Amino acid sequence: MNPLQFLRLLFKGPTPQQMAAQLRRPHGFMARKVAQRMNNSNRPLYDGAWKALDLRDGMRVLEIGFGNGLFFPELAQQAKDLTLHGLDFSAEMVQQATANNDALITNGALSLTHGASDRMPFADATFDRVFCINVVYFWDDPAAHLREVRRVLRPGGTFTAVLRRKTSMENLPFAAHGFTMYEQADWEAVLRNNGFTPVSTTVITEPGVEYGGKTYTPESLVVVAGFA
Ligand SMILES: C[S@@+](CC[C@H](N)C(=O)[O-])C[C@H]1O[C@@H](n2cnc3c(N)ncnc32)[C@H](O)[C@@H]1O
Repeated sequence: MNPLQFLRLLFKGPTPQQMAAQLRRPHGFMARKVAQRMNNSNRPLYDGAWKALDLRDGMRVLEIGFGNGLFFPELAQQAKDLTLHGLDFSAEMVQQATANNDALITNGALSLTHGASDRMPFADATFDRVFCINVVYFWDDPAAHLREVRRVLRPGGTFTAVLRRKTSMENLPFAAHGFTMYEQADWEAVLRNNGFTPVSTTVITEPGVEYGGKTYTPESLVVVAGFA
């Protein structure tokens, strides 16, 4: 970033392009603030995920793209003796999530890994549940990520993706910069084309989200996919 860009950022806030880059991979001095904003605006999506995950005692669960990891303690309460893992390719997010989850990490209930979802450092058939929230927009080649999701899932496991639908996303100025957006049928087709079945979707209507002085009322898709 040149000095002029830095001054603009300081006084005027991020451009839509800078915000898009932060949402894709939070980094640098803005990462903490961006993660806190995501905590506020994405809270209802985590509630939707808890319902969809249908967790049973003793399951092994992976979250891809956990941001600052603020919701892991809640996830740990959704059933007994869960083993939780997180994977995120932002070093800043791994650092913040580690600081936010000291107790869970110390007692062995949570491990966090710095890495990318198209090359997961996990053995085959490790998890009963894999989920991600606001991440699939950044998968430029979804097949490469979904192949990995299938590989690390146990047979009978499920993959849950929570995403804002295209008609909600395209109102947000940053979404024009590198986001792949989906309507329900589009994302379901991607899953089916990559070997997932059955696929079922619930729609969440969220309370207003403020961005750039405007209030948006987005709708999100909670899409649960299985494979035999
Ligand atoms: C928009 S944020 C969403 C954070 C959180 N899930 C939420 O909804 O508030 C996207 C997160 O996913 C991570 N991420 C994006 N693509 C990823 C990938 N391919 N592998 C691992 N992490 C990824 C980013 O670093 C970031 O922490």
